[in-house]
Amino acid sequence: MARNSKVIIIDQDPSSRAETQRMLALLGFAVMGAAGYGMEAMTLARETQPEVVVVSLEEPIARSLQTVESVADILPQVPIIAYSSIGDPSYIRRAMQVGVKDYLVAPLEEEELGQAINSALAQEERRQQRLSGEVEPQAYGTVVTVFGAKGGIGKTTIATNLATALVQKTGQSVALVDLDTRFGDVAILMDMPTDRSISDLALPEDEIDREAVQSCLYTHGTGVAILPAPIRPSEWHSIHPGHIEKMVSVLAATHDYVILDTPGTFNDIVSRALEMCTILLLTATPDLASLKDTILALEMLRSWSFPAEKVKIVINHTSDAHGDTRVDIRRVLGKDIFWTIPYDRSISQTTQLGMPIVAAKPKSKSSQSFVELAYAIGGIRSRPKGMLERLGDRISLLAKQDDEPGPAAEVTAEQASEAPVTPAPEEWTR
Ligand SMILES: Nc1ncnc2c1ncn2[C@@H]1O[C@H](COP(=O)(O)OP(=O)(O)OP(=O)(O)O)[C@@H](O)[C@H]1O
Ligand SMILES: [Mg+2]
Repeated sequence: MARNSKVIIIDQDPSSRAETQRMLALLGFAVMGAAGYGMEAMTLARETQPEVVVVSLEEPIARSLQTVESVADILPQVPIIAYSSIGDPSYIRRAMQVGVKDYLVAPLEEEELGQAINSALAQEERRQQRLSGEVEPQAYGTVVTVFGAKGGIGKTTIATNLATALVQKTGQSVALVDLDTRFGDVAILMDMPTDRSISDLALPEDEIDREAVQSCLYTHGTGVAILPAPIRPSEWHSIHPGHIEKMVSVLAATHDYVILDTPGTFNDIVSRALEMCTILLLTATPDLASLKDTILALEMLRSWSFPAEKVKIVINHTSDAHGDTRVDIRRVLGKDIFWTIPYDRSISQTTQLGMPIVAAKPKSKSSQSFVELAYAIGGIRSRPKGMLERLGDRISLLAKQDDEPGPAAEVTAEQASEAPVTPAPEEWTR
C-alpha cells in the first residue's frame, strides 16, 4: 500500500522539507509537491488531491494549525501526519483537535514516518470499505477488561494508553468504557466533558441500542471513543449488570475493540465485565501486597472456572522503588507474565494534561511498551528493531548483568503468602 501512495509535504523550512522528501522517496511514496503554510498549502492540496499529507508544525504555531485545519477541510478523507520539534502535550492535543491523525516528535525517523503513514492509510481504507459495504463490520469486537485486585496499580493508565495505542498504531476503532463505580476518572484523565455518561443508559434493555449508546460516547482527540462513568458514584445505583452487558454488546458490534476499565474493588458490575471479556488484563505491581491480592484474584477466577487462557498478567511498575526488585513473580503467581510496563514518571505529568502518554510523549519508554502491548493484543508483529536499537538493547543487557541483584532480592511464594492483604474478593463492594 505504501508504494506510490501520493503524498504532499507542508513545511516552511526548505532544508527540513528536502529531508522529509528524501525519506518519503526512500519509503516508496510518490511526493506530489511541497509548500509552506497558508494559501500555498491549500492550493497544493486542491491541485494534487494526495492520499496523505505530511506537515511540519513549527512556529508560527497559530498559522501552522490554521493551515492544517484548512487542508483538513479541503481533503476531509485524507490522513494528516504531523512532525514537530514541539513535544508539549497541550500543543499535540490542539494539533489533533484540528485534524492531525498522528504526531511525530522530532527527530523524524524514516521508519517511524513510514509506519505512521501506513497505519493511517490502512485505517482510512477500512473506513472506506465499511462505508461502501465492501466489508461487513466484524460481528463482535474484542473486549479487553483491565482488572486488578487493588486500587492505584495503573489499571486506568493501562486502559487509556492501550486504547490510544490501538487506535493510533493499528488503525482500529476503540471504545473505552469507564466502569470504575467509585472514582471513575477516565474522562478526567482524558480531559473530556461528562455531561452524558453510563447513567444515561439506565433504560429498559431493549432501548439500549446503537443510537442511545452513541449519544453518550465522546470522541477524544486521539480517536478513542469514551463512555464515561457517572460523575456521582450514587448514580451507579440505577445501573445493573444487564445494562452493562447490553452496552458492551452494542459497542462490540460497532468497534474493533472495547476496553473496560474497572475499579480497585469487586462488585456485580465488575463480575459482568469479567464474564464478557475476550482478554482479561490482570494488573499487578511487583510488591508483596499486590502479588498476594493477585494470587487471591487468580484463585477466585479459578473457582468460577474462568478460562485460564483469557487471563494475561500485566506487571506495572508504578513506582521506581520497584525498579531493581528481581521478584520471581512468575513462580509466585504460578502463571507466565504476559506484559511488563516500566516505571515512567512522565505518565502522571501527561495524564494531568488530559493526554495519555502514548500520544503526548510517544518516544518515552512506557509509550513504547504500551504500543508493543497494543500490537501483541492486536496480533500484529511489531516493527523489527533497527541496528542501533539492537545495539542499545545489548549494552543495557550487559550493564544489567553487571549489577544483577543476588537471589536475596527474590520473593518466594511463601513470603508472598505472608504479605498483608486487602480484603478478600468476597468482601469487595460496589
Ligand atoms: N508505569 C507507571 N509509571 C509511573 N507511574 C505510573 C505508572 N502506571 C501508573 N502510574 C501512576 O500511578 C497512579 C495510579 O494509576 P491509575 O490511576 O492508573 O491506577 P488505578 O489502578 O486505575 O487506580 P484506581 O483503582 O484508584 O482507579 C497514577 O498517578 C499514575 O499516573
Ligand atoms: Mg482507575
